[in-house]
Amino acid sequence: MPTMGFLHEGHLSLMKEAKRHGDKLVISIFINPTQFGPGEDFESYPSDLDRDLKLADDIGVDVAFIPNKADFYPPGFDTFIDQKKLPSHLCGLSRSGHFQGVMTIVAKLFNVVAPDIAVFGEKDFQQLAIIQRMVKDLNVNIRIIGHPTVREADGLAMSSRNSKLTPDLRIAALSLITALKNTQRSVENGITNAGTLIENATDSISSHPGTEIDYIKICDPDTLDNIAKIDRPVVMALAVIVGTTRLIDNMILHPNK
Ligand code: PAJ
Repeated sequence: MPTMGFLHEGHLSLMKEAKRHGDKLVISIFINPTQFGPGEDFESYPSDLDRDLKLADDIGVDVAFIPNKADFYPPGFDTFIDQKKLPSHLCGLSRSGHFQGVMTIVAKLFNVVAPDIAVFGEKDFQQLAIIQRMVKDLNVNIRIIGHPTVREADGLAMSSRNSKLTPDLRIAALSLITALKNTQRSVENGITNAGTLIENATDSISSHPGTEIDYIKICDPDTLDNIAKIDRPVVMALAVIVGTTRLIDNMILHPNK
């Protein structure tokens, strides 16, 4: 199970799921430089290896693989995995090269660890879709399991980056899940026009000081293409910069039958 560390209950929940499916659990902890763009938070990404190793041990992780950056990306490293369609949506638009970095590191980790199964979180909906596509396309013999988003008691999706939020911004960050829940309620009340739903979510999030919306999209869960009308289960995905911290969340919207 690949991670970038600074483990939280979301990661631990994935690990528990992984243990249910396999005999031995290997996790990796590696802040992967190739998935961060210029000006992003690679340098300031939170880290506490001692704490992570203790949590991993408590949960029964068999091996924690902690690659060394210089060994994993030695001078002359020059091979990257890419995909055309799925990365051209959502986070891929504002984080150019991000998913190329994610696919490359995940493929490297798969090759080194050679797992039978790998668990990824639905919180990173696009990442999960891209990894599923990658293993299919490249005949990688690893079963990918998606795990539902784990949330704080008030609904905020758990993220290592939440540690960067001040108390005020922590409140503003709740606007993401509030907007998603309100959208689901509107859909249940018969509003099926994606444009209207996105407009309402935009208004409600941007009314919180300290928020800057990167995107709010309603799309097909398989292709991530935008959809205009909610006439089947679709995914609403959003990315919002809260203070200086970029947060993402998503929810499957179910229309009334
Ligand atoms: P990271 O953000 O550390 O997440 C590691 C795994 O935990 C990913 O599969 C992610 O989707 C999952 N995860 C994180 N927060 C979650 C939550 N609140 N609920 C459920 N799952 C959650 O994602 C990455 O690292 C990296 O891109 C990585 C795949 C390790 C490649 O570098």
